[in-house]
Amino acid sequence: MLTDAVSPLMETELELDNYRVADEDLPEFRDMKFENINELHIDHPGANDREYRTRRDYIAGLARNFRMTGVITDVEYSPREQRVWRYVAEELEDLHQRYASSFYLQAKKDLGITTDHIPQLSEMNRRLKELTGFRLAPIEGLVETRGFLSWLSYRVMLCTQYIRHHSQPAYTPEPDIVHESIGHIPMFTNPNFADFSQFIGHGARIATDKQLEELGRLYWFTVEFGMVEDGDDIKAYGAGLLSSFGELEHAFSDKVDRRPFDLEQVINHEYTYSDMQPVLYVIPSYEELKEVTRTYIESFAK
Ligand SMILES: [Fe+2]
Repeated sequence: MLTDAVSPLMETELELDNYRVADEDLPEFRDMKFENINELHIDHPGANDREYRTRRDYIAGLARNFRMTGVITDVEYSPREQRVWRYVAEELEDLHQRYASSFYLQAKKDLGITTDHIPQLSEMNRRLKELTGFRLAPIEGLVETRGFLSWLSYRVMLCTQYIRHHSQPAYTPEPDIVHESIGHIPMFTNPNFADFSQFIGHGARIATDKQLEELGRLYWFTVEFGMVEDGDDIKAYGAGLLSSFGELEHAFSDKVDRRPFDLEQVINHEYTYSDMQPVLYVIPSYEELKEVTRTYIESFAK
């Protein structure tokens, strides 16, 4: 995912206190230019299913449409897609009760995310706007790192809307609506987490290629695989953990070295996408994460 592609949002001015962004101050979505938006990989469970590919292309088309109009089209999910959701969401719900952070559990309720049906980005957007001014924008697949992270500086998260293939509901090699709405979206209702995400976005706009690589690691060990002190316990808040049965149970097993969060260690920690994570980092609080990140991103501007 890390590439050197130049984002149209790259610039040198940095303000770390413009937390809420007015509609008129958003860049035009139609100006989004990404290189290599991810097409379906050959090892994807749906790669040889023509019907699935056509459906995924149709939903990706809605995301392209959004860029032209700025209006999110709700997806009319099929009964089979809803069944995939119900299966995954119910299995994860049980694990979340044991392992997810208390903030996350409440946030999922606040956003009306249930095991019953696939939530629409438009519904969640309305609630997020009230709570933290965060926005969700449809995208048709994985995009390059700088472009993706830069949108966070406008409190915008690019989200896929299609769902994984029904033959392997527990697995997806790419982000899908399960990963986005069960993994990522609830945490954007947390003001500290929302600000922290925005700082990462600011960083991505001015980072050198080396700094961007470090930012990618910070994102990985927090937004994707983060753990947090929660009362006397350690709990999960990262989307890669919360949206995967295997990763979530593994994270709490004795096969994982759970270390106190240390920025220097994290930004220098090389990881692999494909294996289960052997080391995870535990933040003391979302506020602490925000403040450490603020200082770190401020150092980019010097
Ligand atoms: Fe993710």
